[in-house]
Amino acid sequence: MERENKVASQFALSKGFENRHCEILGMREFILSNANGIRIRIAEYGGIVREINVPDRQGLFEDIVLGFDSMEAYKQNPAYFGALIGRYGNRIAHGRFDLDGVTYELAKNDGENHLHGGEKGFGSVLWDGEGISGEGFEGVELRYRSEDGEEGYPGALDISVTYRLTDENEWIIDYLATADRPTILNPTQHSYFNLTGKAGSSILEHGIQINASHYTPVDSNLIPTGEIAALDETPLDFRASKAIGARINAQHPQLERGKGYDHNFVLKRAVSEELVQAAEVYEPISGRLMEVLTTSPGVQFYTGNFLDGSLQGKSGVAYGVRSGFCLETQLFPDSPNQVNFPSARLNPTEEFKSSTLYRFSTR
Ligand code: BGC
Repeated sequence: MERENKVASQFALSKGFENRHCEILGMREFILSNANGIRIRIAEYGGIVREINVPDRQGLFEDIVLGFDSMEAYKQNPAYFGALIGRYGNRIAHGRFDLDGVTYELAKNDGENHLHGGEKGFGSVLWDGEGISGEGFEGVELRYRSEDGEEGYPGALDISVTYRLTDENEWIIDYLATADRPTILNPTQHSYFNLTGKAGSSILEHGIQINASHYTPVDSNLIPTGEIAALDETPLDFRASKAIGARINAQHPQLERGKGYDHNFVLKRAVSEELVQAAEVYEPISGRLMEVLTTSPGVQFYTGNFLDGSLQGKSGVAYGVRSGFCLETQLFPDSPNQVNFPSARLNPTEEFKSSTLYRFSTR
């Protein structure tokens, strides 16, 4: 760990457009930096984002994502800190779906349900990374071939995920995939943010605005009921910015089921390439602001309700409940079993494409 931190701090000194990678425990890491001193540290293993260092309104750089000090710790990453998620992000009821008359069985790794791709999803495999750079950005392209039948999913899948850090202080994620026979796909990124930059502190004072008038309510196992419900008059309505903590303990069946916010917000009803403004989060003490734009139809707003202090994170800090939040852009949960939801089907003749952009600034 000591050696790792030393290596990381050497990289902290390298700014500009030179894309660097280093090797730790046989696994490579990439450090992206931009003209304004922002740095993102990425591991090839799981495509894990280990650090995002951004300034507060006084110019103080702090790390705003949850994670572990050592790469070894990410081998057990039950909360999916910083990880790429797939093949299917979120839940599939009973770990089962039908495609062209065949029933596929997936791992039930979340009670009776399938979660985030199974026992060994995209966050637990080694990706093949290559540094890239261009006008105003540097990045890394991560490639992975998921073999036919991996984790029970049909078809071999070739996927590339490109992370770019731009001089406009944007972290852009592009997903691109093809399959050799019909399958389903719903990749996402599972970074937990805490814009205070103070590990272990609460996220309840962050203000959040989400551009959604509807969401997909869930049952007691967090599986969508199939309804696309209006947010009006609910404590889940964030069309006007509100503190995360303002209504999180309100008496509402959905908040009780989720133990807080753990819901898919509907940004659009169908898959399209249009990039839409999904959400904006503002942390008043540091002044840090994060905007999220995406081409995805949905975004899961998760407030770290299952963090219980048992995971020792960076600098030995225990991550307690609501010490990080996720905004996971995605298709809707359990789409393969829900006729009303945008389809997760990927045909061999098609290319899966989606993009998400996190933009950092201060106010
Ligand atoms: C889900 C939570 C789950 C968490 C696991 C989130 O994407 O919405 O329900 O507990 O991932 O870390």
